[in-house]
Parts: sequence; structure tokens; C-alpha cells
Amino acid sequence: MIPANVIEDLKYRNRIEDVVGSYVTLSRSGANLKGLCPFHSEKTPSFTVFPNDGHYYCFGCGEGGDVITFTMKLENLDYRGALDFLAKRSGVTLPEDDKFTPKGVSRQRVLEMNKCAARFFRDMLFDPETGAPGREYLLGKRGLSSAVVKRFGLGYAPNSFNALRDHLRKNGFTREEMVEGYLCQVSKKNDKNIYDCFRNRVMFPIIDVTGNVIAFGGRVLDDSKPKYLNSADTPAFRKSRNLFALNYARNFCSENLILCEGYMDVIALHSAGFQNAVATLGTAITPDQARLMKRYSDKVVISYDSDEAGRKAASKALKLLSEAGVDSTVLKMQGAKDPDEYISKFGADRFKKLISEGRSEFDFKIDGIKERYDFDIPEQKVKAGNALVNEIASYYSVIEREVYIGKAAEVLGMPAESIKADVNRVLRKKRYAEKKTKREELIRSTSAIGDRVNPDEAKSIKCARLEKQVLGMMLSREEFMKAGTLKLNAEDFYTSLNKRLFEFIKKAYENGGFDIGMLGQEFVSDEISRAVAYKDDRERLNINTDKAFDEAAENLKAETARQKKKDEGGEDAFDLIARRRKEVNK
Ligand code: GTP
Ligand code: MN
Repeated sequence: MIPANVIEDLKYRNRIEDVVGSYVTLSRSGANLKGLCPFHSEKTPSFTVFPNDGHYYCFGCGEGGDVITFTMKLENLDYRGALDFLAKRSGVTLPEDDKFTPKGVSRQRVLEMNKCAARFFRDMLFDPETGAPGREYLLGKRGLSSAVVKRFGLGYAPNSFNALRDHLRKNGFTREEMVEGYLCQVSKKNDKNIYDCFRNRVMFPIIDVTGNVIAFGGRVLDDSKPKYLNSADTPAFRKSRNLFALNYARNFCSENLILCEGYMDVIALHSAGFQNAVATLGTAITPDQARLMKRYSDKVVISYDSDEAGRKAASKALKLLSEAGVDSTVLKMQGAKDPDEYISKFGADRFKKLISEGRSEFDFKIDGIKERYDFDIPEQKVKAGNALVNEIASYYSVIEREVYIGKAAEVLGMPAESIKADVNRVLRKKRYAEKKTKREELIRSTSAIGDRVNPDEAKSIKCARLEKQVLGMMLSREEFMKAGTLKLNAEDFYTSLNKRLFEFIKKAYENGGFDIGMLGQEFVSDEISRAVAYKDDRERLNINTDKAFDEAAENLKAETARQKKKDEGGEDAFDLIARRRKEVNK
């Protein structure tokens, strides 16, 4: 068994558009890419790549899947072969299958080992000789009190490749546990040897709300890189689901939590009396972390660095926190790059004032736009106006939009009606795009697994296509519904799902009227989605003349008859393939 995270990683390293792009010439088409299908011959591109979720689908022949199935088919490999191919392509090697079996290192053992390591790092920090560089850094250079150092359990990893390893070994921990727990790594030169991951760094233990040491962050003492080394995910740790210092902050967050970027920011804030500060663990905030915060507080003050990266991160945090149901504000920190520096420059009282002046989401966005554009230059003012309009359109509530339209009018010095008109235009466009995406998702979700909903489609793409047109039109317009039930019979439909759909619709219509909600009586949800997609498709194309309907119906009759005759004649597999090629090229 190959674990899901390994496959995720392979997919991440092998972007579908790159892999497909090395076989097929792709050109951009909105958010997607299009090219000539490698699975059937065609002259106009119907093969589509959806980079956003890593799928491809051919609207001509119905082939679809992800980067792994694509590789399997085009390189003629089995599943494992395709994984190896992609691994090689991205410069990684996958271990043999049996190496993936769980190593049997338990969470409990990693926690015990981490506790032992945290004690070791702390003892080293206070060791008169070995710990001198660490103490010099934390107490000297960063000016922390020894009380704070002790409260956070900070430590020092000696400048040695085996100090921790030997200590853990003496305490009964195995090589496997040290490696799985991300405290040691296997030597590249000799895989019998392991050595310490953290060397000559000050150490920040990461402690969960129940007091377990779940991981470590380690900072260099000088300007070398990487500045911080953080534990990778281990049996005891998911980076994306924990927050630094939440074990303390949880007791001080009745009013709000303060969210920072760095360990040192949190420690500086706690030292200055803001014990409700937490930080993400060297990554951007994740949805899990937002939900975790919501469990402890309904309000979060985002206190990120004042640079461009910090502003971007704040904007993402606002979004995730609001999705988690947390009310948040963003600090406007001027004259310092981060909270740590702000407090040491201006003191705790000024920081307190800063918190009380935290900006709401919309004010934060206005500030960002003001900074980006010069309102005295007409072109830039137009851009700023459009940016504001787009922001306003992203709010769901009408009341919110009204309030922000008023604010934007003030900021831009323009009549609110003009801004409102533009907001409404953007909203209309968005609704259309959303509908389109939904439809595409539907197609993808059904195509990726091969067509189980209507397996007959593959037997005659042409019949299936005409059936979709006819059913779609019948479902979208009363006149077509009437015409369809009069002109067509179940026997005119070739594929089984569409035949069943027609029969049901016709019967219902003749017995007093059909409504799409009635499909639930006879069809499963995938089948109903299919019918809805037919309808959406037609409505989107907006082909609704009687002539178009009659043509489709006539063509379907003829094509089904032809196909049935052919089936009786016993077409063999080669003929079938040849005919499919021809059909698609028409
Ligand atoms: P100092 O004040 O210089 O100690 O750092 P900081 O706390 O201000 O951190 P900074 O703003 O540079 O980075 C914020 C957080 O991102 C840190 O606390 C780390 O968790 C993480 N981080 C920073 N540099 C690195 C790095 O090189 N690698 C990794 N993995 N994480 C980093
Ligand atoms: Mn800093």
C-alpha cells in the first residue's frame, strides 16, 4: 500500500498541465487548457485539462482522469509503474512497496522521546560550557528574561551531530523512533548511520493543549540558512493542526486571541503581558488552525509582519478565519517590522492601543488599495475603483455591501450609485461563472472514474450526444417537452440511462405534468445530476428554436436506427474503434 500523502506529493510535483503538456500542445482557455486529444484522432481540440483540480477530460471521446491515469494510458504502464515514472520525472525515488508499511512507531513513543529531548535541550542551554552560545543569544541578543525562557521551555541543541542521538539511545529510544520523530536523520553517505537534525540552534518546543511536547522549532544563532528548522509531520504532530503557545493562550483568550507569524513574536508578547498570543508553525494559516482558534475564542487580532508578505498572509487569514466563523481585525503596525520589534521599540501600552484600533476586514482592504494606487492619477484611480468594486462584490450580505458601497464612495469621492451599478455588474458575472464551474465540476466528477452512470455512452457517442441535446431541450422548455413526447418513443433512444429518463419524463408529462424533482422517485443522485447537466448545458448554449429541436430529434431517430442495425450485424472491436474515430472527426 502506498500512502495517500506520497501520492498527493507526486501529484503536486507533477502538475497535470506540465505532464500532459509534454505530449500534447496545450493552449489556454480561461482557467483551463485545451489541445488535440491523444486518445482519439481529432482536428479541433476537445481535450481539456483542468489544472485547478488536476484532471483532464476529453469532450470528444470521454476519456478522463488524473495525472496518474494519464501516464498509465500514454506510457502503457500499470499503476505502480506510473508512480515510478512520475517519481523519476520529478527527481524523487519511491521506496519499494514493503517500505511503505507502517513502521510501527506509536504517537506515545514519539511523545515520550520528545519530552526526553526537550529536557536535554533545556539542560544543554543551562550547561555552563556547552550552553554558552544559546544563552548568549536568548538572554543577551534577544533580551529574554530567564523566567520567560523557562516558562516556554526553551533550549539549546549543541553544535554536534550525535549529542541528542546518543542521549536518546541511552534512554532506550530506537533508531527508527528517532528518525520517525524527526529528531535524527539517516546519513546519505552511509545509511547505517543517523545524525541529529537540530544542531547549534536555540530550540522552541511546541506543546499541545494537553501539555505534550509534540514537535520543535530551532533557530540559528547567526544569519545562516535556513533561519528556522521545524519538525516535519510525525506520528505525534500535524503542523497544520497546531498553534505555538496555545497551551498558555487558551487560559487568557476570553476576549480575543492574538495571531502572529513567529515564535519570537509570541514570546515577546507573552513577556509584555499579552498571554493570549499564538503563532502558526512556520506555514501560512490553514483551515484546521482557523477552526482550532474558533474553539477557544470568537475573536482574533491578526498581528502579522508589516511587510508585503505579512499583508498578503493577513488577507488569507481574514478569509479563513471568517469562514471558520471567527470575527477578526488586522493591526496597523507602523515603524516596526513585527510585534517583537514594536514592543521593544514602543512598549506594551502602545501595543494595547494598537489592538483597540484594529481594522475590520474592509478597512484593511481599503488601506491596501490606497497604498497600491495613487488616486491623483486618473488611470490608477480607475484601477483602485475596480479593486474596491470587486472586494465589495465578494460580500454575501446585501447590508454589508450597502455599507461598503457608502465607504467606497467616500474614499473615491464618487457617487454611491455609480459604484453600486458596477458592483451589480460584477455580481452578475460572478453568478454566471459560478454556475459554469459547477457544471464543469459535475462533468469532471463523473468522468474521472469512467462513465459508470451511463456506460452505454461509449458504444455510440453520436447517439449519446443527440440524446443529451434532445433531453436537455425537453427539460428546459415546455414546448420542447410537448414536442418530444409527441415525436419520440423510448425506442428512439439508444443508451440505457437516457432511454429510462425519456420514458419516465414522457409518462409523467402525459399523466399530468413533469417536474425535475420527480426524478428522485426512480433515479439515483448521479443519474439525476446527469439530467440536470443536460438541462444546464442546453440553457447555457441557448439554442432554442423549434427547428433545432426537430433536427436533433430527427437525427436521433435515424442514428439510433442505424446503430441498432449495426449491432445486429455484429460489428467487431476493430470496426468499432474505426467508426468511433470517424465519428469524432466529423
Ligand atoms: P526572528 O525574529 O528573526 O527570530 O524571526 P521571526 O520570529 O520574526 O520570524 P520570521 O518573521 O522571520 O518568520 C516567521 C516564522 O516563520 C518563524 O517563527 C518560523 O516559524 C517560520 N520561518 C522563518 N524562517 C523559516 C525558515 O527558514 N524555514 C522554515 N521552515 N520556517 C521559517
Ligand atoms: Mn522577528
